[in-house]
Amino acid sequence: MRQLIAGNWKMYGSCASAVALAQGVAAGAGDAACDLLVCPPFPHLSAVATVLRDTPVALGGQDCHQAPQGAHTGDIAAPMLRDVGATHVILGHSERRQNHGEIDEVVREKTEAALRVGLTPIVCVGETDAQRQSGQETEQVGWQLAGSLPQGFAAQGVARGAGCAIAYEPCWAIGTGRTPTLEEVAAMHAFIREELVRQFGAAGHGIRILYGGSVKPGNARELLAVPHVGGALVGGASLNPADFLAIAAAARDLGDEVRTPGPWG
Ligand code: PGA
Repeated sequence: MRQLIAGNWKMYGSCASAVALAQGVAAGAGDAACDLLVCPPFPHLSAVATVLRDTPVALGGQDCHQAPQGAHTGDIAAPMLRDVGATHVILGHSERRQNHGEIDEVVREKTEAALRVGLTPIVCVGETDAQRQSGQETEQVGWQLAGSLPQGFAAQGVARGAGCAIAYEPCWAIGTGRTPTLEEVAAMHAFIREELVRQFGAAGHGIRILYGGSVKPGNARELLAVPHVGGALVGGASLNPADFLAIAAAARDLGDEVRTPGPWG
C-alpha cells in the first residue's frame, strides 16, 4: 500500500488560486511514489476537478452532511461531492468538532453517508493540549475511534472499493508548528492500529492511518518513516505546490509494512 499525502486547503484562496495550486500539484504528481489528494473549499471543487481530470491527483471535500439531501441550508451532501468528481472526504476534523460542535455520533453518521455513496472517508481524531498534559491522549483517541467509526467501517470501505482512512491530528499541533516527538507519534499510531483491529478484526490492518499537524518538507521524512504512519494530512504546507510535492517526495511505498509492528509497536 502506498502512503497517501492529502492536502487540506481549508478556507483559503480564490477560485483562480485554487486552479493554479491544483495545476502546480498535478504538474509534479507524475514523479510521486505515493497517492495524492487535494481537498479544496466547496466552491472551488468543480474548477479543481476540471484541472485534475486525467491526472493521478484525487479530489476530496472537507466535510459532508449526514443526509443524502434535504432542507439543510449551507450544508453539502455526500452525493453532491461524488457528483462533482470527489472520491474522498475529510470528516470530524478538529476544527469542525470545535467550531461546529460535531460530536462523535455526528461524525459516525457522516462517515456512513460517505461510505453509502462510495466516498473514501478520512476520519480525524486527536487530543487537545490539556488532554495530553494530563496523560489522557490515548483514552481520548480511543473514545473518538469507538464513537466516530460505524460498524463495519473497514469492511464497507473495502466492499465498495472506497477504502477508508483515519487521520491522527493532535489539536495542539495543527497550524502551530509544534509536532509530537516521533516516539509519541509511534505510540499513538500503534495504539490506533490496535484499536482498529480490535473493532474490525483483520480488516483493521488495511486501514491507512495518516498523521496530521504541522507536517512540512523539513519534518515529513522522519514522520512518514514512523511505523503505522500511512501518509499525511497537510494543512498550511499544502497551499504551496512546491512544499506539498516535497512532502510527497518523502513518502514511500509501505509494502506490507502496515501489517508488521515496528520498533515501537
Ligand atoms: P497544518 O494543518 O498542517 O496547517 O498543521 C493540518 C490539518 O488541520 O489538517
